[in-house]
Amino acid sequence: MCGIVGYIGPQDATPIILNGLKRLEYRGYDSAGLAVVENSHIEVRRDVGKLSRLAALVGEAPVHGHIGIGHTRWATHGEPSARNAHPHIGMTGDVVVVHNGIVENYLELREELIAEGAVFNSDTDTEVIVHLVERYLSDDCGLPEAARKALGHLKGAHGIVLLSSREPDKIVTARIGNAGGIVIGLGEGEMFIASDLPAILEHTRRVVFLESRQIAVVNREGLVVKCLDGMPVNYQVHTVAWDPIAAEKGEYRHFMLKEIHEQVRSLTDTIAGRVDFEDGRVRLPELRLTAAQAGRIQKIFITACGTAAHAGMVGKVLIEHIARIPVEVDIASEFRYRNPIVDPNTAVLAISQSGETADTLAAMEEARHKGAILWSIVNAIGSQAMRIADGFISMQTGPEIGVASTKAFTAPLVDLYMLAILLADLRGTLDAKTRRQYLSDLRLIPDLVGRCLDREEQAIAVARTLKDTSHCLYLGRGINMPIAYEGALKLKEISYIHAEGYPAGEMKHGPIALIDRTMPVIVLAPRDPWYDKMFSQIQQAKARGGMVVAVATDGDTLIPNESDHILWVPETPWLLSPVVTVIPLQMLAYHIAALRGLDVDQPRNLAKSVTVE
Ligand code: AGP
Repeated sequence: MCGIVGYIGPQDATPIILNGLKRLEYRGYDSAGLAVVENSHIEVRRDVGKLSRLAALVGEAPVHGHIGIGHTRWATHGEPSARNAHPHIGMTGDVVVVHNGIVENYLELREELIAEGAVFNSDTDTEVIVHLVERYLSDDCGLPEAARKALGHLKGAHGIVLLSSREPDKIVTARIGNAGGIVIGLGEGEMFIASDLPAILEHTRRVVFLESRQIAVVNREGLVVKCLDGMPVNYQVHTVAWDPIAAEKGEYRHFMLKEIHEQVRSLTDTIAGRVDFEDGRVRLPELRLTAAQAGRIQKIFITACGTAAHAGMVGKVLIEHIARIPVEVDIASEFRYRNPIVDPNTAVLAISQSGETADTLAAMEEARHKGAILWSIVNAIGSQAMRIADGFISMQTGPEIGVASTKAFTAPLVDLYMLAILLADLRGTLDAKTRRQYLSDLRLIPDLVGRCLDREEQAIAVARTLKDTSHCLYLGRGINMPIAYEGALKLKEISYIHAEGYPAGEMKHGPIALIDRTMPVIVLAPRDPWYDKMFSQIQQAKARGGMVVAVATDGDTLIPNESDHILWVPETPWLLSPVVTVIPLQMLAYHIAALRGLDVDQPRNLAKSVTVE
């Protein structure tokens, strides 16, 4: 969950590290620090709070050098404080480490190290790493070998970067398991290291991703990669196409708002090149799905967390309706522990914006172990979830920085729609006329989403009414039931208002007791096959005095009679309606949080990539 940056080269490392951290601040943001080798001596600056505090500290006590590492923290062990902020320096003052992950056996290692004479200066698990490295350092054993030996003791999953002022010509970095990636950027006579691509894309597009249990020694001219057991590795250099400008806020006050407004483009890009409208066919070559494979699939599990899981719930309706394959949606943290019934005729599809979510990766491992066909829908290029799958669909949304996921929710809805059509086509269960109709419906989506975005004022007006509420109930049914979950999640994570999403039909089985005039009820009631049922649900809420905000289709004449506010959406083919109905709810959550003066992009206690269990 933490952000890591490293630099070695002819430039001043400090501004490169600070800029890189700025682009990763969304990953963790309770404290930050950097270490730079200045005149053969390691200088550390670190502080609690946001990166601006570290930048101010560096302004007061500048530090310059050609090799350095930095970190933004999301606390796991030890409260957010200056002493627990990374980097952590060893007792010699010569070795320093930044780390992402949890050292699961740190208590045991700490006791061992204390018995050997180590003195700890923080409450973190990370500090054991630097003491372990120092245990092995000697005249005959330099940093790379000492690090390799030390890392062999760690349990858990980690991304680690180390440097030593005695060997200022190199940085050592390693990845163990799925605690987030390590990416090494190749420059001309300079090298960059990061936990995530946005930190280094302004410098280079040529990158190497470390796999689990690999360690790299990086100098100005290049890198050597080995497995932790010492075996050499032939690494692959990838060229990344992401535009670094896409990771800037531009004219928008928050990344979240920018990303909401980017959805016309991201959805256009999602469709572009994947649909042959002439031929009426879907092409997803990276999924590597053959007709034979499609024919033998008897069941699909979709596994994911949070917003990605809500996309999966819509996917269930799409795949079951279009391809007639049974689909189960499992929250990844549950799937991995419940011994699911999976065999080689089962496909397991993981959905993840970051491609680094520990629970999702563990669910994928479980699926792999059980012999399933393993797919992923992922945004972060080169991430673990993309690499370990048999086939993947890449989201085409560009980097998503706001912690609250928006454009990385609507893109997979379209990906799942295309996947459903492809599966049905390959299994021969979809006639050409229907297939063409589905695809021509898809063509409408960017424009329909654009029309929703043009109605931001209606979301702002409702946000003004709701900004001081303490609770909110979101109701939906059928394909729009997951949008109730998603609308509630968006609201609670950025505004800290308690919100619950519920299948509308369940309301009478309990939640209806909550409804009175102080309880806003947000109802998804577009013109879909569940419309009549939703209409009676609205009447039931209204009859109990609830304040009803309805998401309704343009031209609806019934719903205004029963609602206090309407968020109008344009008429949309029902299978694609969630792509449209979620837009006003994203805008509503954003404006409520903004009106409450909250930090929309970096809400408390959250991080963009959840790389711990
Ligand atoms: C989304 O708004 C949330 N911040 C969160 O639920 C997120 O969707 C979840 O952690 C999964 O992340 P992933 O897509 O990167 O796997």
